[in-house]
Amino acid sequence: MESTLFFIFCILRISLAAESFHWGYHCVSGPSYWAQHFKDCAGNNQSPVDIPKEEVEYAEDLGFIEFYGYDDVRVNKIKNNGHTLQVDVTGDSYILGGGLEILYKVSQLHFHWGVTSDSGSEHTIHGKAYPMEMHIVHYKEKYDSIIDAIEHSDGLAVLSFMFEVGPLDNYNYSKFLGKLSDVIYSGESTHTSPMRLADMLPIPRRNLQYFRYNGSLTTPPCNEVAIWTVFTRPIYISELQLQQFRKLYANEKSSNNYERIIDNFRPVQPLNKRRVLKNFQFQLP
Ligand SMILES: *[C@@H]1O[C@H](CO)[C@@H](O)[C@H](O)[C@H]1NC(C)=O
Ligand SMILES: *[C@@H]1O[C@H](CO)[C@@H](O)[C@H](O)[C@H]1NC(C)=O
Ligand SMILES: [Zn+2]
Repeated sequence: MESTLFFIFCILRISLAAESFHWGYHCVSGPSYWAQHFKDCAGNNQSPVDIPKEEVEYAEDLGFIEFYGYDDVRVNKIKNNGHTLQVDVTGDSYILGGGLEILYKVSQLHFHWGVTSDSGSEHTIHGKAYPMEMHIVHYKEKYDSIIDAIEHSDGLAVLSFMFEVGPLDNYNYSKFLGKLSDVIYSGESTHTSPMRLADMLPIPRRNLQYFRYNGSLTTPPCNEVAIWTVFTRPIYISELQLQQFRKLYANEKSSNNYERIIDNFRPVQPLNKRRVLKNFQFQLP
């Protein structure tokens, strides 16, 4: 029954999609159709990827990522853009180290999640998917803006954090999730309560282990401009908190075509000839 409904739903959307392509995650707007409209999505260096177990090289010189201005308390803009929940970060926060030759400045962070907690992350680690993944997007300081930066192959440095379900609410996320009722529909935005980026990170946030590879935006137009850092230490969040993300709508309030933002992750892409490095020596279990 459910699959029949889904099928009818897809058919209805074909006529809409034919007029102008609005990319999404399902049916004829989904990831397998992106490349017809955005040629970079068919490139050889696409993201996300599965981080393989073998053939990952330990790179001694990578070291740890250093966070600057992550402890500053700020009010940021939070919005539902129809694809994800996004926080536009005000003020100056940066990352350095971890093999980055220069400062990269924070622009925004956002999330990818599943309809259930069996999947939801974009990257997988040794084949394992996580219920949610957060991307903190930084751009190279010398470019004037993120728009400018995505035209350069070293334009972005994206930090990727996996979530795991824990028994307790993550207090630092509850504060933030309290604002979700103001951004239920696409196009809505509001301000966060005063928050610190540091509180969004795994605990402890010192000496975090990670994987490194060169890839792309995981959404159209899929520019191959991102230095990816995928951390191994997860952030814990409760199942109830994850469910709050699943209540967001991909449509505007005035629309009569209701669709939740769920499973807003792109499937893993072939690694092709790319190298994957790591800043730690041992094997993950
Ligand atoms: C919340 O953030 C504070 C400050 O960074 C930290 O000490 C605390 O452990 C965090 N709590 C949780 C549950 O993440
Ligand atoms: C990413 O690309 C840059 C520039 O081509 C290169 O120097 C670097 O080694 C690449 N990183 C990895 C992990 O392959
Ligand atoms: Zn993302």
